[in-house]
Amino acid sequence: MKRIGMLTSGGDCQALNATMRGVAKTLYNVLDGDVQIFGFEEGYRGLMYNDYVLMKPSDFSGILTVGGTILGSSRQPFKLMRIPGENGFNKVEAMKTTYRNLKLDCLVILGGNGTQKTANLLSEEGLNVVSLPKTIDNDIYGTDMTFGFQSAVDIATSAIDCIHTTASSHGRVFIVELMGHKVGWMTLHAGIAGGADIILIPEIPYDINHVISAVKKRNKAGKRFSILAVAEGAISKEDAALSKKDLAKKRAASPFPTVSYEIGKKIGDALGQEVRVVVPGHTQRGGAPDSYDRVISSRLGAAAARLIIEEKYGYMVGFNNNSIVPVPLKEVAGKLKYVDPQSEIVQQAKDLGISFGD
Ligand code: F6P
Repeated sequence: MKRIGMLTSGGDCQALNATMRGVAKTLYNVLDGDVQIFGFEEGYRGLMYNDYVLMKPSDFSGILTVGGTILGSSRQPFKLMRIPGENGFNKVEAMKTTYRNLKLDCLVILGGNGTQKTANLLSEEGLNVVSLPKTIDNDIYGTDMTFGFQSAVDIATSAIDCIHTTASSHGRVFIVELMGHKVGWMTLHAGIAGGADIILIPEIPYDINHVISAVKKRNKAGKRFSILAVAEGAISKEDAALSKKDLAKKRAASPFPTVSYEIGKKIGDALGQEVRVVVPGHTQRGGAPDSYDRVISSRLGAAAARLIIEEKYGYMVGFNNNSIVPVPLKEVAGKLKYVDPQSEIVQQAKDLGISFGD
C-alpha cells in the first residue's frame, strides 16, 4: 500500500483540482486501489500542523472543471521556512515529523516558484517529493508551460476584447493592467491575443516618451483609441536603473496605486486625452480551467503518478516540446523563466506594429 501526501501551495489558479485528479486517478487506476492519499489543508501549513484528511477516490470526482483547490492554499514564504515561528516553532522539522508519523512514501506538491523552492528543501532534507508546476504567470524554470497560464490568458484576453468595443466608441486610451510582478508572459500573450497596441512588461523597461509617441502615432493615423496591456511589474528605464532600496523608497512615496495609473496620468497630461485604467485582478486566477489546461494538467498529473509508482523522487514534471519530462527539483528551485526581449515572439509582436515602449 502506497501512502501519498498531497498539497497545493501559494496563489491558486485554474486546473489545480484537475491536476490533483490526474495524479489520484492514475494512482488508483494503475495501483488498482492499493494507495492512500492524505490531503494537507492550506498547503505547507497543513503539513506543518498535521492538518490533513484521508481522501476518498470520490473526492477526486467531478473536479476536472472546478477552479480553485479542494485542499485550500496559503502562502508560506520560502524565506521564512528556516526562521522559527511563534514559541520557536521549527517549520521544517514539523513538516518532516508529519511526513514520518504518517509513514508517507511521497509528497506530491503543486505550486509556483516559492513552493518549488520549499519542495526542493524538503527533498534535500530527505523526504520523497514529486512536484507539479502551477501558476498563471508561466514563470517556472524547467517547463515551457505551467497549468493555469492558458486559462488566465483567456480571461485577460476577454477583458481586452471587452475594452476594445468601449474604447472605440469613446475614442479613449485604455490601460488594461494584467498580473505578473516579475515576468510578462501573461501580458505578452493576452496583449497579442487581444490586439493591444502597446505591451509593457517587466523584462523590457519602457521610456514613457516612446509610449506617448506610440499613442500619438496612432492618433495621427486616424485611430480613435489605443489599448495598452501593462503588466503589474512593468517598469520604466529610469526606475530599472535604481537600486532596489531607492526603487522601494520611490514607490512608497508614489501617489499612484499601481504603475498603470502613473502611465495613464502621463499619457493623459501629454495628449490631453482621457485615459482609463482597468484592473481585472484576481479574476485572472478564477473560474474553470480551459480545455488546454485540462489536458496538460491531466497529463502532468498522470506523469507525476508514474514517477511515484517508479519511485523516482526529487523531480518536478515539466512540459517541454510537447512532451512531459522529469526535471530535477534542484535545477528548478530559485530560478525564474523570463520573457527574452530578443525572442521570436517579441520580435514578431514588434513586426506587427506593437510598441513595447523601449
Ligand atoms: O502567483 C501569481 C500571482 O497571480 C501574480 O501574478 C500576482 O501578482 C500575485 O499572484 C498576487 O497574488 P496574491 O494577491 O494572492 O498575493
